[in-house]
Amino acid sequence: MQAWQFSEYGRFEDVLEWVERDDPIAGEGEAVIRTTAASLNFPDLLMCQGKYQVKQPLPAVSGAEGVGIVESIGAGSKFQVGQRVVGFCHGGGTLADKFKVANNNAWALPDHVDDATAAALTVTYGTSYFALMHRAQIQPGETLLVLGGAGGVGLAAIQLGKVFGATVIAAAGSPEKLEICRQQGADHVINYRDEDLVERVKDITDGRFADVIYDPVGGEIFEQTKRCIAWEGRIIIIGFAGGSIPKIECNRMLLKNMSVVGLAWGQYLGRNPALAEKCQAHLYDLLRAGAIKPVIFNTLPFDKVFDGMRMLEERGMYGKIIVER
Ligand SMILES: NC(=O)c1ccc[n+]([C@@H]2O[C@H](COP(=O)([O-])OP(=O)(O)OC[C@H]3O[C@@H](n4cnc5c(N)ncnc54)[C@H](OP(=O)(O)O)[C@@H]3O)[C@@H](O)[C@H]2O)c1
Repeated sequence: MQAWQFSEYGRFEDVLEWVERDDPIAGEGEAVIRTTAASLNFPDLLMCQGKYQVKQPLPAVSGAEGVGIVESIGAGSKFQVGQRVVGFCHGGGTLADKFKVANNNAWALPDHVDDATAAALTVTYGTSYFALMHRAQIQPGETLLVLGGAGGVGLAAIQLGKVFGATVIAAAGSPEKLEICRQQGADHVINYRDEDLVERVKDITDGRFADVIYDPVGGEIFEQTKRCIAWEGRIIIIGFAGGSIPKIECNRMLLKNMSVVGLAWGQYLGRNPALAEKCQAHLYDLLRAGAIKPVIFNTLPFDKVFDGMRMLEERGMYGKIIVER
């Protein structure tokens, strides 16, 4: 088969190559999927650089989520040959003709979920669902502040925040991105590149601040983010697209009776597969009901992966980029 493979770490354009490599072989409880679509995620950039928390042995294949048809199965696989499934490869593997997934990391697709939607939905909505429902236990009527609101996980958080009955404030870095956030349900928007985040959140909430903050950005803006939390609020740490890992003072947590909670979605697949399965089923129900809908910024052929990665890197895009085989 052929795959987007890297043999050393570096910027994607310097290390990714479309090369011939051996087909994956399904072991016990695994299936090999013939890829029809995949989506790009911010961590794909980090994986090529060796900066992601999960590293596959080199040479490794890029891509964390993919859709396709089951081509072969190992003993104990929950799938049958010919089924259409979506799968998650923590640390990479889906930007290839074929990829291999374990039972806990893949789900059969209902007919009403097309390939591109499935590829766009799994990581981003899974992450935002677990973050808001399971970790923050968001309640109807609470105020949710979403940083990086027009990004992949950010837009999913906005849509799910509305489903869960929250008032949603989205923060993003350009007027175009703020418009997308509004279209996807944000009640209020803030341009955190040229507005004072703390003052705006204070104004919007009449001085109460946000009950839940969804933060995939971290970085320098966190100096403001941590001041936007309400009494008994929860800051959910999703990621560090801003490039640096921030710190928080414990006295701030004590005085505000607040919590800082981490969320690593991929770990739930192995540690609590039943909950992951339930989340996936609920997401498909919400999709069928029209309550959520992934925003697809661009769909590219597999040989244009570099164009998609560049869009992720340059920060000009919103939503998801799909690559189709
Ligand atoms: N914890 C988990 O389970 C989990 C799961 C998936 C993803 N993540 C993490 O969540 C973060 C976002 O992932 P994503 O796939 O949603 O990425 P994305 O679509 O590229 O969105 C990231 C957003 O972050 C903002 N941003 C701020 N500073 C940036 C910078 N220096 N470079 C690039 N973007 C910057 C951008 O919005 P503005 O331009 O509007 O600021 C951008 O829209 C990543 O750190 C990723 O690793 C975590």
